[in-house]
Amino acid sequence: MPTEEDWHDLCALNDIDEEEPHFVNAGGRELMVVRVGDEVSVFTDSCPHIGASMVGAVVEDGHVECPLHGACFDARSGEVSDGPTDQNLQCHPSRLDGERVYVRLESAGS
Ligand code: FES
Repeated sequence: MPTEEDWHDLCALNDIDEEEPHFVNAGGRELMVVRVGDEVSVFTDSCPHIGASMVGAVVEDGHVECPLHGACFDARSGEVSDGPTDQNLQCHPSRLDGERVYVRLESAGS
C-alpha cells in the first residue's frame, strides 16, 4: 500500500506553463510535468525514442512533442500518437492538493 512518504510535493500549479512542460527533480528522478487546463500529468523526463531529455518540448492541442525528432504523446496519458517510436512516456500517479502538485514515485530500483 502506498504511504504518505511516497508522495512528493513537486511545484505549484501556476509554475506550469500550459505551452511547455515544467521540469523538476524529485526523489532522485528527473520529471516532466505537463498541464492541460487544470489537469496535470507527471512523466519521467526521458523520451522513449532514445532516452533523451524532453527539455524544450512544447504542449499543443493536448499533446506534448519531443524537441529532438518530433515524437508526440498524449499530454494526459503519455500515450504515443506520432513520431519515431511506438513506446509511451512513463507516467506517474499525481494529484492536486489546493495549488500544489504531488507525484507518487515507486521506490528506486522498482
Ligand atoms: S528523442 Fe524524442 S523523438 Fe527522438
